[in-house]
Amino acid sequence: MTSERTNDRDVWLHGPLGQCPAPADDVAHPWRLILLGAPGAGKGTQADLLHQKLKACHLSTGDVFRAAGKQNACDQSPAMKEAQEYMRRGALVPDATVWEMVRERAGCLQCRGGFILDGFPRTLAQAEVLKELLDREHIPLSGVVDYELPLDEIVARLSGRRTCAQCKAVFHLTHQPPAVEGKCDRCGGTLIQREDDRPESITVRMEAYNRSTTPLIEFYRRLDLLVPVAANGSPEEICARTTCALQART
Ligand code: AP5
Repeated sequence: MTSERTNDRDVWLHGPLGQCPAPADDVAHPWRLILLGAPGAGKGTQADLLHQKLKACHLSTGDVFRAAGKQNACDQSPAMKEAQEYMRRGALVPDATVWEMVRERAGCLQCRGGFILDGFPRTLAQAEVLKELLDREHIPLSGVVDYELPLDEIVARLSGRRTCAQCKAVFHLTHQPPAVEGKCDRCGGTLIQREDDRPESITVRMEAYNRSTTPLIEFYRRLDLLVPVAANGSPEEICARTTCALQART
């Protein structure tokens, strides 16, 4: 078996038909993390950095829905088409659709390399069904990181975000600008603004977060899994803060 751990995420992004290039037989201590935090708090940015440090794959439900949205309309299931509409508005995709999508990819949660879940779970119902699956398979969570950031900073981060249409790398017009304007530093792909980063969608996303996702903080606090982390400062500082807080639990 190879000892190289990639973040290819093919199986996660494309479902059972995808191919994982690096079965992780060699990871002594697999990290299994959930990242919580408001839209724009920096979960995706941190997941990428944490992947580089901890080697677990970055599993984002938002990335799966966005990848599905790029498929030919005829290849999309009615539920996936409906999910695109919810996303555009900034509303949460219905739990049943989300769970069906995650269930198809449950192998990624059983991976011996661990995982970093970004954007899932997002409602109490999702958290409960995930807990059932993990308990049943005897998969212990290492921690649930809650990134905390004031609202004005969140709005500034979202409105300046640009994402690579090809490899999904995330940039910011002022905080993390690409070397060449409009081009991805990693793969040269075109940088685009996400449809749900428009001001009217941001408001809906913040409402959905406050209503549906903040109860998860208490849910995981009760399970003694919550790791609050201040999300201000540079991405590298926040990542160091996160790994330090996680190591303190072990
Ligand atoms: P999703 O893709 O999960 O989006 P989100 O939770 O709204 O989070 P974001 O990706 O917007 O932000 P982030 O916290 O990852 O921040 P980032 O690192 O990019 O979900 C999108 C939609 O999909 C949902 O609205 C919903 O419709 C649907 N969906 C997905 N999962 C679902 C589920 N489980 N249930 C129901 N519906 C679901 O950073 C933001 C910006 O800030 C970037 O430009 C970045 O460069 C910059 N930045 C990051 N860190 C720093 C820093 N330290 N300093 C300065 N700038 C920084």
